[in-house]
Amino acid sequence: MASLRVPPAALLFLLAPLLILAPVNCDDEEGHVLSGINSYRQSHNLPALTKHDKADCLADEIADEMENQPCPRGGITPGPASQFTQYPKLLGKCDIDINTTTEGVILPVCVHDRVATLVLTNYTLSQHARYLNNSKYTGAGVGTEKDWTVLVLTTNTVGGSFASGATCLINCVFGWSHYLMFLLLGVFLVDYAH
Ligand SMILES: *[C@@H]1O[C@H](CO)[C@@H](O)[C@H](O)[C@H]1NC(C)=O
Ligand SMILES: *[C@@H]1O[C@H](CO)[C@@H](O)[C@H](O)[C@H]1NC(C)=O
Ligand SMILES: *[C@@H]1O[C@H](CO)[C@@H](O)[C@H](O)[C@H]1NC(C)=O
Repeated sequence: MASLRVPPAALLFLLAPLLILAPVNCDDEEGHVLSGINSYRQSHNLPALTKHDKADCLADEIADEMENQPCPRGGITPGPASQFTQYPKLLGKCDIDINTTTEGVILPVCVHDRVATLVLTNYTLSQHARYLNNSKYTGAGVGTEKDWTVLVLTTNTVGGSFASGATCLINCVFGWSHYLMFLLLGVFLVDYAH
């Protein structure tokens, strides 16, 4: 193994997917949105929202769907986004049973360049605030795409738990093959390092 030489360029090629897939900046920004919202919650004596992985997945998917829609006037849609029943495909991608979403809420805002302070005030100083300022919600996921930021709020009741459906077909297989690919890549790299 020690004699195996891989040119640096080839190594870069191998690592590129890892670098591209690591959503460092994005996670950071989305984390900031959530911590800003949690500061707002704290100032209203409400417990912090905890990051909910499936809501996070769904928020990303919804942001993807909205990215080409023009910003509404003032940046805020008049109410929460259309109900979850409009997103069966996206719920499937994130392996969420639609029956566990009815008490959740989707809050999109549109701010050109997603200027952090404006994104936050679009949540805290708008009609969206009444959802943030509500102890019913306990979890959250954030997605961003172009000018859009999407916040999905979950509850700790069954109707808003965003839990897995009984069935997950293609997406689970898909998820697994991804995992397997990285596992193999990892084994290969570890092997190479020796
Ligand atoms: C959701 O609930 C309805 C009835 O309340 C049921 O018919 C449907 O199969 C459920 N959907 C899933 C994905 O479990
Ligand atoms: C929301 O963002 C828009 C920019 O898209 C800005 O003009 C507006 O003032 C913001 N609204 C609030 C309440 O912060
Ligand atoms: C929301 O905030 C207002 C003041 O900003 C407060 O009067 C109200 O009680 C809060 N509602 C909840 C559910 O915390």
